[in-house]
Amino acid sequence: MKLVDLIVGARPNFMKIAPIIRALSTRKNRTLSYRLIHTGQHYDPRLSDTFFEQLEIPRPDENLNVGSGTQAEQTASIMTKYEALLVDGGISNACLVVGDVNSTMACAISAQKLGVPVAHVEAGIRSGDWSMPEEINRLVTDSITDWFFTTSQNANQNLRRCGVDDSRIFFVGNTMIDTLLANLEKLKEPSLFSTLGLQPNNYFVATLHRPANVDRELEFFDLLTAIGKGARDTPVVFPVHPRTAKTLLSISGLPGNIHFVDPQPYLEFNYLVKNAKAVITDSGGVTEEATVMDIPCMTLRDNTERPETVSMGTNELLGTNPDAIVPAMDRVFADKWKRGQVPPLWDGRTGERIVTHLEALL
Ligand code: UD1
Repeated sequence: MKLVDLIVGARPNFMKIAPIIRALSTRKNRTLSYRLIHTGQHYDPRLSDTFFEQLEIPRPDENLNVGSGTQAEQTASIMTKYEALLVDGGISNACLVVGDVNSTMACAISAQKLGVPVAHVEAGIRSGDWSMPEEINRLVTDSITDWFFTTSQNANQNLRRCGVDDSRIFFVGNTMIDTLLANLEKLKEPSLFSTLGLQPNNYFVATLHRPANVDRELEFFDLLTAIGKGARDTPVVFPVHPRTAKTLLSISGLPGNIHFVDPQPYLEFNYLVKNAKAVITDSGGVTEEATVMDIPCMTLRDNTERPETVSMGTNELLGTNPDAIVPAMDRVFADKWKRGQVPPLWDGRTGERIVTHLEALL
């Protein structure tokens, strides 16, 4: 048996790893075992534990408990602790990282320096925006990745442009969508649905947590004011990420139709999206889920590392100027939003494809 380390750290990692674990565990004639390692980057139960429960992810074999810190502190702490685990707890035959969070980059570096090959799931995507910590994480991780598992032809092209040989690129699809498709029938109405008197197709969902949008009070206030106005009398449900909560504490005079609620568990959050009139977000993963569920999606960013959600899906980049928000929401009210198409290989089988490749590679 070959041992693969599976690394998770932050909320968007959990839905990406779940289908890979399922595929590994249900394999006949297993040749791969795994060690699930949680770095502890997200430690709040609302961002971590509930996802393990709902997505039936086994308890991590190791928790590095790194917690919060500056970008460098967090990265350094993950690198140090994962290195120690590899040296003292046993070396693995491969390290599989997902996405673009600090845990992804940090573990890739520690593994590669000890000669452990790195597999990167969701490799090759690029926003071109070096002010985002995630873009730095993608660039560094991909520069030391051995095996690239990709979600799109755009990602394949980006990697080829960096000189990566086709023999190391595996176009497998999107594990986040595996999780969505596996759970569509299980989505759960949250209790706030009736408390707030929500009705299907008659409310908006908003999520914002990127430093560029939420760290400065004035800019954040302007965005929220525009969202409240664009929604007219319709409610907006806004699940608040801890980073966003810090800024919200010092803002007053916000529109009364925006309801700030706790971060939602996976099944409840996607229930809200699936039944919404539209979504307003700065998250990358939400643009993919909205595309698959064919829900209009307005992204408050100037760029995206997921261009297929715009070219094929329901996503549109509005930028960060609040003036763009009301006209876009008007188009939603007028039913003039584009319809979505599901990108190739976003079909629910990606986890199995990844495991098949790993078996052959190891
Ligand atoms: C991280 C990822 C981002 C991802 C997001 C999803 C990086 C660089 N960023 O951003 O790609 O989209 O997760 O949620 O890896 N905090 C808590 N409780 C927690 C975790 C964090 O209160 O469980 C606080 C921290 O103290 C910090 C802030 O939230 O002040 C930000 O946390 P951090 O993990 O640094 O980055 P995110 O903004 O969550």
